Amino acid sequence: MTAMASGPAPRGAQAPDAVAEPLRRLWGGRFGGSPAPEMDRLNRSLPVDRRMWREDIAGSLAWVVALRAAGVLTAEEESEIRMGLHRVGRRLDAWAEPDWAAASDEDIHSLVERLLHEEAPRVAGKLHTGRSRNDQVATDTRLWAMNAVHALDARIQLLQHALLEQAERHVDTLMPGYTHLQRAQPISAAQWLLSHFWPLDRDRERLADARRRAAVLPLGSGAVAGCPFPVDRVLLKEILGFRAITPNSVDAVADRDWVAELLFAMSLVGTHLSRLAEDLVLFGSAEFGFVRFSDRYSTGSSLMPQKRNPDAMELARAKAGRLLGELMGFMTVLKGLPSGYNKDLQEDKPALFQSFDTLDALLPAVAGTVGTLEIDRSRCADAIDPAMFATDLADLLVHAGVPFREAHEQVGRLVRVAEESGDSLAALATAALASTGPGDVRSDEAFDAARSVERRSAHGGTAPEAVRDQLVQARARVRPAYEGG
Ligand code: ARG
Repeated sequence: MTAMASGPAPRGAQAPDAVAEPLRRLWGGRFGGSPAPEMDRLNRSLPVDRRMWREDIAGSLAWVVALRAAGVLTAEEESEIRMGLHRVGRRLDAWAEPDWAAASDEDIHSLVERLLHEEAPRVAGKLHTGRSRNDQVATDTRLWAMNAVHALDARIQLLQHALLEQAERHVDTLMPGYTHLQRAQPISAAQWLLSHFWPLDRDRERLADARRRAAVLPLGSGAVAGCPFPVDRVLLKEILGFRAITPNSVDAVADRDWVAELLFAMSLVGTHLSRLAEDLVLFGSAEFGFVRFSDRYSTGSSLMPQKRNPDAMELARAKAGRLLGELMGFMTVLKGLPSGYNKDLQEDKPALFQSFDTLDALLPAVAGTVGTLEIDRSRCADAIDPAMFATDLADLLVHAGVPFREAHEQVGRLVRVAEESGDSLAALATAALASTGPGDVRSDEAFDAARSVERRSAHGGTAPEAVRDQLVQARARVRPAYEGG
């Protein structure tokens, strides 16, 4: 690189070692000494925000293009800084844990800039022109989140595929449908499985919506008042893949609404996983025995040799609480903050990263558990007791012209007699209908689970044909033959 820049030699031209220490702090000039170690320990965010190093470099690469277009940098300076940033990227990519542990910089922005001073000492000092860490960190975090949503979407689809495949195998498997956790009416096992598919479908929509709101570019807002150089923010938006630019610099550096939305969307995913998990814990117990977990997703007891525990599902149930905690915690951080950037906002990243990592670990394990589940057809069918046909019996009477309220009353009385006498509801119904019922009603038709299910063929119902339509609809919502990743 030839030294073409005019004006005095940039300060960054000093030997890297000489500048390294002050550059660990980007704001050292007006301070007499280094921060107290306990202050540094509290204030430093590098251990958390280091995972945004790629986004930080991407933001800086775009920023120098905008500075050059604004006439702030020469073409040579721009390319020198860009090459320096690429070298910094390669270095960080190769960094192992000890390298990160040895870096004492305040945050990822300080670290990247310090390394840039090592890689491009002549020009590095010009990178931060017109920019603040306030608009920089908001940009980096949004970029990170935009990628994270894509990753989560893929993980959710993994679970949706597991549910779909099980549902396809079990359209004709009959089981009790529950309300109030009391046996209510017979349903297809596929109908139950798919009842856990659709909440995840809504989660994906919610995450995509949260991503849309994250994809608004704050860069070019400076610390609070905007950028005094004529940077083209639309150009920046294009380069970085954002959808729009923020309209107000004060709001741009302070807005974390999109973080709250993402945290909510993620905690709702967690809530859905916890409900699926609870179903599976129950259904896997000896008392239900509807499902059996694969050995690969069960754990043993150190004391009781016979135990096979559904730990993965219990953890799924518990993690929802942690996710909700992150949401509540961060909402409380936001509440009552004054305008503009405040350091409180640094707490957005632990909340986001923790929530993301939780789901990132959870979703594949839940998908594996569901995918390898064995559903016991006969245990499911055996749990359908005759009282569950009480509605079908009433419906039969309705078909014979009895008003529903009256039919409900009549069948209710029969159920009570059956409970008190110990006689079967089916036998009682046959007798009752023979003596008092409308002539052509055959009560045995009501007591057949397959027929009961078949009758519920309106859209969204549990009849095999309706479930097959639903499966087609569900298949269309996920990427075909999704392999994970
Ligand atoms: N580490 C900070 C954060 O995550 C970066 C922004 C710091 N800005 C400041 N004015 N101190 O929020």
